[in-house]
Amino acid sequence: MASNQCLWLALFIFAVSVSGAISRAITDVPMSVRHEQWMAKYNRVYKDAAEKAHRFEIFKNNVEYIESVNNGGDRKYKLGINQFTDLTNEEFKATHTGFRPSKMTSARKATGSFRYENVTAAPASVDWRTKGAVTPIKDQGECGCCWAFSAVAATEGITKISTGKLVSLSEQELVDCDTDEDEGCNGGLMDDAFQFIINNGGLTTESNYPYKATDGTCNTNKESSHAASISGFEDVPANSESSLLKAVIKQPVSVAIDAGEDDFQHYSSGVFTGECGTDLDHGVTLIGYGKTSDGTKYWLVKNSWGKSWGEKGYIRMERDVDAAEGLCGIAMQASYPTA
Ligand SMILES: *[C@@H]1O[C@H](CO)[C@@H](O)[C@H](O)[C@H]1NC(C)=O
Repeated sequence: MASNQCLWLALFIFAVSVSGAISRAITDVPMSVRHEQWMAKYNRVYKDAAEKAHRFEIFKNNVEYIESVNNGGDRKYKLGINQFTDLTNEEFKATHTGFRPSKMTSARKATGSFRYENVTAAPASVDWRTKGAVTPIKDQGECGCCWAFSAVAATEGITKISTGKLVSLSEQELVDCDTDEDEGCNGGLMDDAFQFIINNGGLTTESNYPYKATDGTCNTNKESSHAASISGFEDVPANSESSLLKAVIKQPVSVAIDAGEDDFQHYSSGVFTGECGTDLDHGVTLIGYGKTSDGTKYWLVKNSWGKSWGEKGYIRMERDVDAAEGLCGIAMQASYPTA
């Protein structure tokens, strides 16, 4: 009896001290230490103490915001600390998006036909990764060429579907060579990228023309080596999530979204439900859809911000919202290349 009580007491003391250590570990680490740990994790080096102090303030504000959102009420998504936590939202937008609708507001240059209009059989969910049509997550870095990553991912998808081969294709070729309409790291449009690939007769591989995250001179030798080609592209009828569904049942689709808000910058997991507007500033790739166990419908989206953002580089965004444009404008300017 006595030894039993002693055992329970020992276990109790042990449990109290372990849980105390865990909660201290989470709550009591000074923000400055968290910043140091974050710098080490993301290999961040600041040029001097003033820059570090400035970045620390931004980091602290962002961490406080992230924790307040996560602790504040019922949300279907969580925010988290990622590689963007020492950037203000303005800095983040300026360097990590790059969809430029302003240059050609009516850049809808496709034929107007929608080959999937009569698609009726919709599976409960679609995930093109399971069909081997999606290359691993890439990282655009500090270059506003999301448009190239989105167009390349959609081209990789249709190439896998039509040829059976998944080949990682070159964004840098688009950044360097597709300069008539698009502007490399200063932004561009997926439809213009598709048009370039058509005119050029194809696109080379990632390994032949690797990504540099900066504007460069077009390597015309590499430009003339083609690993994949497309014959055309079509726009999904605008502001119709049901049309978008028909399209993504058949292939990965390039979509433009408004990714400029704080919660998108800090998104970590779950079904993103906003806040966001419809100022399209980012090109990403729709690779499927589904429904959570609580009935929340979502779009499955491949981003180009590396694997430490979101759900290993992906985001689930709420589907079938009240607005015709879709959440963050996802149904406004969708398009896909044709084999
Ligand atoms: C869809 O069905 C209608 C009615 O049968 C037909 O006229 C139209 O050509 C079809 N569209 C496509 C893209 O096949």
